[in-house]
Formats: sequence, C-alpha cells, structure tokens
Amino acid sequence: MRVSGALVAKALDLLEQEIKPGMTTKELDTMAEEFIRDNHAVPSFLNYVPKSDPSVTPYPATLCISINQEVVHGVPSIKRVVKEGDIVSVDCGVYKGGYHGDAARTFVLGVIDEKVQQLVDVTKESLERGIAMAVEGNRLHDISSAIEDYARSFRFSVIENMVGHGIGSELHEDPAVPNYGRKHTGVKLVEGMTLAIEPMIALGRSRRAVSRRNEWVAVTEDGKPSAHFEHTIVVRQGKAEVLTRTFLE
Ligand code: MF3
Ligand code: CO
Repeated sequence: MRVSGALVAKALDLLEQEIKPGMTTKELDTMAEEFIRDNHAVPSFLNYVPKSDPSVTPYPATLCISINQEVVHGVPSIKRVVKEGDIVSVDCGVYKGGYHGDAARTFVLGVIDEKVQQLVDVTKESLERGIAMAVEGNRLHDISSAIEDYARSFRFSVIENMVGHGIGSELHEDPAVPNYGRKHTGVKLVEGMTLAIEPMIALGRSRRAVSRRNEWVAVTEDGKPSAHFEHTIVVRQGKAEVLTRTFLE
C-alpha cells in the first residue's frame, strides 16, 4: 500500500504542476492515466461499479474532477474547461501489487474569492485534524468529530451523505468513515488499519451532495462551492502513517 499510495501522490503532484486555465478535464485525466500505466499500475476508479448497486454505469475515467459546486465524482470530459477563479477537486486511485491507494486535493486556479480560499484551506486542515486522531486506542468517530468540529468552527457545512472508507485489496472496505460524529464512539482503532479519510466541506447550509438519475457527479443542493481533500493512512501507535503524502502539499 506504500507503493500504491506513493504513486497516487506523484500523480497528484504532476497534475498540480500541470493544471492551467484553458485545459479540459479530459486532458488531465489522460495525463494521469498515462502516468499510472507507465508505472505498471492500474487506475482504481476506471470501470468501478459500487458493490451496493451493480446496475450503476461503470465509472468511465481515471480521475474524478469536481469543479466549484460539484462535490465529488465529476467525470472528465473534452467539453469541460477549467478556468481562473475555479476550485478543482481532483481525486485519484491507483491499484498496484494487489492493493489500492486513494487521495484527493482541491486545486485553486489563479486568484479566487477570499471566502472560497478559506473553504479550501479549512478543508485541508480538517483532514489533518482527522489524521491526528487516527491512532491506536482512539475510536473511529474521534476522526469524524475532529473534522466536523474544525469545519463548523468556521461555519462551513460538512457533507454528510458521502464518507471516507476502509481501503486495502478493495477500494472501498469497512468501516465507513463519516466526516461528522460523536467523539469516543465507533469502532476502536487498531494499529495496521488502513483508512481513506476524505472530508468534503461546503460553503452555505447544504449538508448533502445530490446527483441526477444515471449521473455520477454529485453537487451541493444550493450551488455553493465545495472542497475535498483525501489521504490514505495507516493507524499506528502515537501517530498515523500517511501513505499519500509528498513534498508538494
Ligand atoms: N475517492 C472516491 C471514493 O473513495 C472516489 C471513488 S470514484 C469511483 O469514493 F469511481 F470509484 F467511484
Ligand atoms: Co476515497
């Protein structure tokens, strides 16, 4: 999982360096897929079908690229151009050696609204607050409540119907890792548990991300911007090990 995690982080570094106003989300997707395959690995999301609903159309891309009011699962397209002032959440999964890595970052293009910049900064820091709780002896919702408390202290909204997850030989494993909850509750964390922690935080009052029938992308109910950061981590004694970190972020 260290190998898959490092590849995800490098793919996101590449995209962070290359993303520019005027590019299509499809160009970014192609860049990531080529990088992953050049490294003898496979994109985790491509052709993904949720176990809970096998009737869903398989996910058609390497990345999820979700712009502004899009919360998650934006499908890359030749028709979708990123522009100055956008916030662009890029989520990437890699499968190699039998295991997955999964991470996301929200990129800021040029100068953006001050409040939206604060949303991005707070979402990133909320993930760090969650990771800081991912140590043996704590409980699952210690992670969740740390994220929620930090986001709410800025009066931002936690998206409640999308969650992080266990990760390993499957992309999505138990337990679900919500971004809100009561501390000292939930399963006990044990050294070696591997989790994808992924806060999705929005401006405004919306606590749900909604999607149309037969569409992957999920948006805020009120059209306000949303940010998303994710790391794959290992629960350890004392301090969690982050598998998807690099020098760029
Ligand atoms: N990081 C996201 C998740 O864990 C990405 C999943 S995209 C999908 O849910 F296509 F695989 F669903
Ligand atoms: Co994930």
